[in-house]
Parts: sequence; structure tokens; C-alpha cells
Amino acid sequence: MPFRSVFVAVTISGALLLAALLINQARPGSEVRQPAPELVRATGRCAQCHREETAAVVHQFERSQHSRANVTCLDCHQPHEGQETYDHYNFRLALDVTSLNCRGCHRTEYEQFARSRHALPAWAAVSGTAGMSPEQLAFGERYHPGAVDRPANALASLEGAAATETGCLGCHRIGQPNRDGSIGSCTECHSRHSTSIALAREPQTCGQCHMGPDHAQVEIYTESKHGALFAAQRDSLDLNAEPKRLTTADMSVPTCATCHLSGLDGLKVTHDTTERLSYWLFAPVSEQRPGYARAQTEMQETCLRCHASTSVARFYEEAEAVLAATNERVREGQALMAALRADGLLTAEPFDEPIEFLYFDFWHYFGRTAKHGAFMGGADFVQWHGNYELLLKLTELEELAAGLRNARADR
Ligand code: HEC
Ligand code: HEC
Ligand code: HEC
Ligand code: HEC
Ligand code: HEC
Ligand code: HEC
Ligand code: HEC
Ligand code: HEC
Repeated sequence: MPFRSVFVAVTISGALLLAALLINQARPGSEVRQPAPELVRATGRCAQCHREETAAVVHQFERSQHSRANVTCLDCHQPHEGQETYDHYNFRLALDVTSLNCRGCHRTEYEQFARSRHALPAWAAVSGTAGMSPEQLAFGERYHPGAVDRPANALASLEGAAATETGCLGCHRIGQPNRDGSIGSCTECHSRHSTSIALAREPQTCGQCHMGPDHAQVEIYTESKHGALFAAQRDSLDLNAEPKRLTTADMSVPTCATCHLSGLDGLKVTHDTTERLSYWLFAPVSEQRPGYARAQTEMQETCLRCHASTSVARFYEEAEAVLAATNERVREGQALMAALRADGLLTAEPFDEPIEFLYFDFWHYFGRTAKHGAFMGGADFVQWHGNYELLLKLTELEELAAGLRNARADR
């Protein structure tokens, strides 16, 4: 290289270095210490090692929309204010990568999610206020009064920490209070590295948690006409379609996400899965939610992209009739239990007598299932896993109650 070119090159790189130093003065420490983003793309420093160490992480990431949009490993793994850190080769990384690490780039989704029942109410359903800061508690209570500030669940306490950690919280952790002040986990639906919307639109993704006798939503969906069509026609659907432009041509068959989150044909997309619900279906006796009429209109707007208004009205009428009948039957069980308690035949402790378990199964499994079946098109769940079982369990409750009364008469 002639002397002149070397001189120019040295001068330019010197100037660039100085500029970089000046710019970096204004940046937080964690960023200054990190190598440049170019080095940490999947082709760069992190991936050099991680292609060997944890190859699938790199493959998953490389197929993601993030990788195509030049988001780097470090964009998610770098620490934000309030996060604990650790040194990792030349990098400083966040000890826990939480929804705080997504929030900076996806504020709208974060805010909608954080005010939904998927957030703090889901955590409080198991653990009460454990681990919540006063700010988190106040935030949750603002949107869901009474559903966040409550004691830890009695059953969870009886089963103990080991069962609760991997059992209850395996599902309910979706709403955990993070130590960095943020709320919940985005990766339950999106995964950590493929961060895909196609994955989040799969019924089975919701079905990881929305399954089993107490909330058989994925089983009900699989039985429904919608589920059968989805299985048969999924190749004709575009599960990757961009949310803000999602049409019925992309999704002519609804999945869980279509009814509960998506903005079909210009409707509003939402990460607040509570918005379109008009009843407290999970409660023993289901009352209307505060925003009943608005919520029902919003859900029906979605049905109406695909169905005639007469069919939708008939569907809701029938579902509300099942709900009323179920409420009636559950009230009979409730009255029976209240009478036993009033007569001193039960202790004040929950879950220490067989009849309390039977009563719990009665409404928590079969009452709920009948209502969920009716609102999501699962005939077998309304009938054999719902109403039939309600009748059977009520008969058993009556027999056990009579036994308790006779035992006292004999004393
Ligand atoms: C010089 C090699 C190397 C580089 C560079 C590197 N890693 Fe690692 N990383 C490793 C090894 C080795 C492990 C441990 C794997 C194991 O435990 O099996 C690891 C573990 C991790 C873990 C898991 C830590 C834990 O204990 O839970 C994360 C997260 C991680 N790396 C992220 C990154 C990110 C992000 C980058 C780039 C900013 C990066 N790594 C760069 C080698 C490297
Ligand atoms: C969209 C954000 C995001 C991006 C981009 C990202 N990660 Fe992660 N990564 C996460 C989250 C979230 C976790 C879970 C962390 C936790 O539980 O604290 C994680 C965990 C990991 C782990 C531990 C995995 C395990 O199962 O033990 C490794 C290793 C890792 N990341 C490496 C990488 C590498 C290498 C890249 C780039 C190729 C990368 N990550 C890009 C969000 C991301
Ligand atoms: C540095 C900014 C940044 C961070 C941090 C980040 N994202 Fe993203 N995310 C993006 C960009 C950019 C896109 C692409 C947007 C587009 O294509 O319109 C994207 C797209 C997405 C998508 C849509 C993917 C698809 O299949 O179309 C999801 C879901 C997503 N991000 C979730 C997350 C989650 C969860 C985290 C945290 C674990 C996170 N993101 C962290 C910038 C970020
Ligand atoms: C990691 C577990 C998990 C996943 C995955 C999950 N959920 Fe949930 N979901 C929960 C829990 C726990 C609750 C109960 C929250 C509470 O305490 O009220 C819930 C509640 C709900 C509710 C009722 C909200 C309310 O206001 O009562 C809807 C609707 C819902 N989820 C839809 C979905 C959909 C749709 C998906 C998939 C796109 C999904 N969920 C994925 C765990 C999960
Ligand atoms: C397989 C995942 C899963 C497991 C395990 C699980 N739950 Fe849930 N739980 C859910 C889902 C999903 C809902 C929402 C049901 C609905 O709205 O129909 C829910 C709802 C609830 C509710 C009613 C909503 C509320 O906020 O009051 C309570 C209470 C509850 N769960 C407590 C527990 C306890 C305690 C345990 C462990 C003993 C547990 N759950 C185990 C997924 C799970
Ligand atoms: C209950 C499951 C669930 C959880 C939890 C969840 N998402 Fe999503 N997310 C979805 C679904 C489903 C879609 C696609 C909606 C649709 O069909 O249009 C989506 C779409 C997105 C998109 C694409 C939006 C767009 O307009 O392109 C981003 C970004 C995103 N989510 C980020 C997040 C972040 C950040 C969090 C945590 C704060 C989060 N998600 C938590 C289910 C979830
Ligand atoms: C065709 C639309 C549709 C599909 C598909 C659908 N749902 Fe629903 N879902 C509803 C309606 C309607 C309700 C009752 C709404 C109300 O309360 O007004 C409901 C209620 C619920 C509830 C009850 C919340 C409570 O109050 O206890 C949960 C949880 C739920 N759905 C989850 C899911 C999951 C998970 C899937 C997929 C496996 C799914 N849904 C599929 C329409 C749908
Ligand atoms: C994205 C489109 C779409 C959405 C949204 C949708 N459905 Fe459907 N639904 C279908 C398709 C397609 C069929 C099959 C219709 C056929 O056989 O031609 C179907 C079938 C049904 C059936 C069974 C009809 C029968 O006699 O076999 C019922 C009931 C139903 N839907 C109710 C609803 C309700 C209630 C909602 C809203 C909560 C809803 N659907 C939302 C597309 C949708």
C-alpha cells in the first residue's frame, strides 16, 4: 500500500474511533462493554460458539422473523435496568430474560398482555401475592380488583412447593411477577428463539395449558367442527399472515387465537385475551362480567366475519341456556354444602373431608366443562363429560350428605 493510502486509512480510522468513543459516552455501560451488533448476529460471536454448544437454539433463531429483521442474540440477552447480570466471555448478559427484554421493541403487545388475566391474576390464582412488588400489586388490582390481592390457593398450599412449582406454576407462571419489575412471560406462546406467530396460532400451543378435565378447551376445540376443519385444511391456511392484515382468506377456519386475539379482516388485534369474554365461565356459578355487552359484541364481530347473524344469535342463545341450567344445578350442590356447614357437619378447613373433593370435582370439572363445551361447540363435553356427570355427582353428594347426617343422629 503506498504511504499516502496508509496515511488516509489511519486518519479515517482514528476519526471513527474518536467518534465511536464520543457516541459511547452517552450510552449505558452494558452497551459500551458489548462488541458491536454485527458480531452477535447468528453468523457472529454468539453463534460461533453456540452452533457447537446449543445448536438448536441457533437453528430456531435463524428461521425466525427476528433473524430476518436483523435482531441479534444480544438484543434480547443484554441486561436492562433492574436486571441481574453475569459475565459471559466478552459479554454481560441478563441473568433472566423476561418480558422486559421484549417490551422495548413491542410495547403495545406488552401493555395489552400485562393487563390481561394471563398476567398477574394467573400467578395469584396459585401463589397469591408472593413475589409481587407493591407497584406490581397495585397495577394488577387496577385491572382485576380482588383477583390479584388474594391469599395463596388452599389446594396448592396443601400439595406443597414441589408439586406447585412444576405442576400449577408450569401453567400459571405465564403471569409471574418478574424481579425486574415487569410482568409475565411472552415465550409461553411464542417460544424463546423461533418467536413465531404461527406457533402462537396453533391450537396445541394454547392447549399446553388449556386442557384436562377442569378446562378442556383444546379437547373441545378438537371435537368441534372448527377443529375438524383445521385438521383437514391446515395446509390451505396461512398461519404466518401478518396480524394487522389477517383476512378470512388466510384463516377461513378459526383457531383459539382467531376468536380470542386476532384482528380478522380489519378488526382489532389484542393480547388481552380477557376483552372478548362476557361470563366468568371458570367460576362455580357463572355471572356476567362487568363489560358483558361490549365483550359479547367483540367476540361476535369475529364470528360474523364467517357466519350469518342468525346462526351466531342462535348459538349464543343455546350456550346461555346451558349456562343457566348449569348454574341451577351447581347452586343445588352449593346449597347442600352450605347446609352441612351451617349444621356443624363439616370442619372449617378446606379439602380435609371426602365430600369437599367430590363437590370440587362436581363444579370444577363437570360444571365448567358443560359451559365451555356449549360456548365452543363440543357436544360430547356438554353432555357426557358435563351434564351427565353433574347429575351423577349430585346424587353422590346427596348420599354422602345423608351419611353425615345419619352418623350424627346415631351418636
Ligand atoms: C466463547 C464461546 C461462547 C460465546 C462467544 C458465547 N457463548 Fe454462550 N455459552 C457458551 C457455553 C460453553 C455455554 C454453556 C453451555 C452448557 O452449559 O452446555 C454457554 C451458555 C449460554 C447461555 C446459558 C447460560 C445459563 O447458564 O443458563 C446463554 C443464555 C448464552 N450462552 C447466551 C450467549 C449469548 C447471547 C452470546 C452472545 C452475546 C453468547 N452466549 C456467546 C459459549 C459461548
Ligand atoms: C427474542 C429474544 C431472544 C433472542 C433473539 C435470542 N434469545 Fe436466547 N433466550 C431468550 C429467552 C427468553 C431465553 C430464556 C431465558 C431465561 O429463562 O431466563 C433464552 C435462553 C437462551 C439459552 C439457554 C437455553 C436453554 O434451554 O438452556 C441460550 C444458550 C441462548 N438463549 C442463546 C441464544 C443465542 C446464541 C441467540 C442468537 C443466535 C439467542 N439466544 C437469541 C430470548 C432470546
Ligand atoms: C431489538 C428489538 C426487538 C426485541 C428486543 C424483540 N423483538 Fe420481536 N420483533 C422485532 C422486529 C424488528 C420484528 C419484525 C417485525 C416485522 O417483521 O414487522 C419482531 C417480530 C416479532 C414477532 C412476530 C414474528 C413473526 O412470526 O412474524 C414476535 C412474536 C416477536 N417479535 C416477539 C418477541 C418476543 C417474545 C421478544 C422477547 C423475548 C421480542 N420479540 C424481542 C424486534 C424485537
Ligand atoms: C403457559 C400456559 C398458558 C398458555 C400457553 C395459554 N394460556 Fe390462556 N390461560 C392460562 C391460565 C393459567 C389462565 C387463567 C388465568 C386466571 O387466573 O384467570 C388462562 C386464561 C385464559 C383465558 C381467560 C381469560 C379470562 O379473562 O378469564 C383465555 C380466553 C385464554 N387463556 C386464552 C388463551 C389462548 C387463546 C392461548 C393461545 C394463543 C392461551 N390462552 C395460551 C394459561 C395459558
Ligand atoms: C395444565 C395447566 C394448568 C395447571 C397444571 C393448573 N392450572 Fe389453574 N388454570 C389453568 C387454566 C388454563 C385456567 C383458566 C381456565 C378457564 O378460564 O377456563 C386455570 C384457572 C385456574 C383458576 C381459576 C381462575 C382464577 O384466577 O381464580 C384457579 C384458582 C387455578 N387455576 C388454580 C390452580 C392451582 C392451585 C393449580 C395447582 C394445584 C392449578 N391451577 C394447576 C391451567 C392450569
Ligand atoms: C397467550 C399467548 C400469547 C402470549 C402470552 C403472547 N403472545 Fe404475542 N401473539 C400471540 C398470537 C396468537 C399472535 C398472533 C395474533 C393474530 O392472530 O393476529 C401474537 C402476535 C404477536 C406479535 C406480532 C404482532 C404484529 O402485529 O405483527 C408480537 C410482536 C408479539 N405477539 C409479541 C408478544 C410479546 C412481546 C408478548 C409478551 C408481552 C407476547 N406476544 C405474549 C399470542 C401470544
Ligand atoms: C369459534 C371461536 C372460538 C374458538 C375457536 C375458541 N374459543 Fe374459547 N371461547 C369462545 C367463546 C364464545 C367463549 C365464551 C365467551 C364469553 O364468556 O362470552 C370462549 C371461552 C373460552 C374460555 C373461558 C374463559 C372463562 O371465562 O372461563 C377460555 C379459557 C377459552 N375460551 C380458551 C380457548 C382455547 C384455549 C381455545 C383453543 C383450544 C379456544 N378457546 C377456542 C370462542 C372460541
Ligand atoms: C374464520 C372463520 C370462522 C370464524 C371466525 C368462526 N367460524 Fe364457525 N365455522 C367456520 C366454518 C368454515 C365452519 C364450517 C361451515 C360449513 O360447514 O360450511 C364453521 C362451523 C361452525 C359451526 C357448526 C355448524 C354446523 O352446523 O356444522 C358452529 C356452531 C359455528 N361455526 C359457530 C361459530 C361461532 C359461535 C363463532 C364465533 C364465536 C364462530 N363460529 C367463528 C368458520 C368460522
